[in-house]
This record gives sequence, structure tokens and C-alpha cells, in this order.
Amino acid sequence: MQLKIYKDYHSLSEAAATEIIELVKNKPDAVLCLASGDTPRLTCKLFAEKAIKEKIDLSNVTFIGLDEWVGIPPENEGSCHYFFQHEVLTPLHFSADQVHLFDAISENQEEECRKMDNIIFEKGGIDLMIVGIGMNGHIGFNEPGVSFDKHSHVIDLDDTTLSVGQKYFKTAVSLLKGITLGLHHLRESKKVLLLANGAKKAGVIQKTVEGEITLSFPASIMQKHSNGFVMIDEEAAGLIEK
Ligand code: GLP
Repeated sequence: MQLKIYKDYHSLSEAAATEIIELVKNKPDAVLCLASGDTPRLTCKLFAEKAIKEKIDLSNVTFIGLDEWVGIPPENEGSCHYFFQHEVLTPLHFSADQVHLFDAISENQEEECRKMDNIIFEKGGIDLMIVGIGMNGHIGFNEPGVSFDKHSHVIDLDDTTLSVGQKYFKTAVSLLKGITLGLHHLRESKKVLLLANGAKKAGVIQKTVEGEITLSFPASIMQKHSNGFVMIDEEAAGLIEK
């Protein structure tokens, strides 16, 4: 794992967006997995702007959504689906057959997981995964305690995730479970970028890069990734000692 510290949120997002652009230029049939949330929002916007400006052909790219709130329909503005659609997929005219998002309102969530695992396997694995980090150290919805070997799965959400998660919704919603790619997928991804910005993430970033590698802090798995990059702004780097 490598740590990269940027001056501010904008330069961090520029660097992450450039990573996506370089990938899709070099590998037009790349498999790209993105997280939703506040952190990657500017990365997505800049990626979309650059791809349009440079007229990059994205028609052979496969897009994988990292996670979703179980029970929240795609038209809800707080859903991950809504985020991906509005920030990336619609602006860049991705067609439905290129896009694989968990259907969080399917009655068979286990089947959703198996479908996602099969797609990733059939496509030859994920080339680039861009994730954020939760205030409890989660990645996607890999909550504290989850095995590093998990494939896609449904999980009971941690109390921190339940309370922080309300920020995405205009009106209060009942959140209980998440559906997510597992940390196996992260470990197997050819490249992983974990993004974080702002002073509020300084504590979890310090644990991610300097703490013990432990199931109780899922993001610590980044330390073991040979092509993993923790990309943060100066504020999020505020508690790092070395
Ligand atoms: C959410 C999502 C994650 C996201 C993380 C951080 O709950 N499940 O995929 O990366 O928390 O979100 P944010 O970037 O809004 O801080």
C-alpha cells in the first residue's frame, strides 16, 4: 500500500479521476468499480468531464456499483443507484448491459450477490476499485468484524453506519441492512484507491495506514494490498505520525 497526500479535496479528486481516465484509455474493456458517497462525488464529476472533453469511448467498459442500502429503491435520491446514475452513468451514456448494480429491492438478495460475483469472475476481475471509508472503518458495507475473505454479501449495518447514513436521505428512512462487494473483491482487484478528505476522516485514516491489520477495522486490509493507494487530502492526514 502507498499513501498519497494531496493539498486539498480538488487535487485529490483530480488525481483519482485521472487514474480512471488512464485506465479506460489503456484498457477500453476495463472493469471499473466505484463507491458512492460524498467523497468520490467530485472524482466522478471530473471523470465525466474529462471523458466527454477527450471523447473517450467507454462503450466497452464494465461498471460495477460497490454497494447499496437494502430496501431502498433506485429512484430514492439517497440510494447508491441514484448517485451512480446521476454522477456517472447518465452523463456518460453507459448502456444498461455495461452496468451492474445491486438490486436492493429484489426479494432474493442472495441471488443478487451470486449474480454480482459471477459477473466479476466472468469479466476477469476488477481492474480499478475506488472506495471511500466509513466513520467506523468500513469499506462499502464491510462492517467491523467481517471476514477479509467475503465475496458479495448482505450484512446487518453497524450503528455508526445507520446514523451517519441518514445524511444521504432527504427524509428519514429505515436502514437495516446493506448489500456489498466483499473484501475478497478488494483484495483481488488489480488496483485499489481508497479516498478520504476532511478533518473528520483523520482518525479513521490514521488507523487505516498505521493501525493494526484487524477484522475489527476493515479498512486496515488496505495495508496488505500490493497495488493499493490511500489517497487523502492534508486535513485527512492530520493525525498520521510517520
Ligand atoms: C457509506 C458507503 C460507503 C462509503 C462510506 C463513506 O456508508 N457504504 O461505500 O464509501 O460510507 O461515505 P462518504 O464518502 O459519504 O463519507
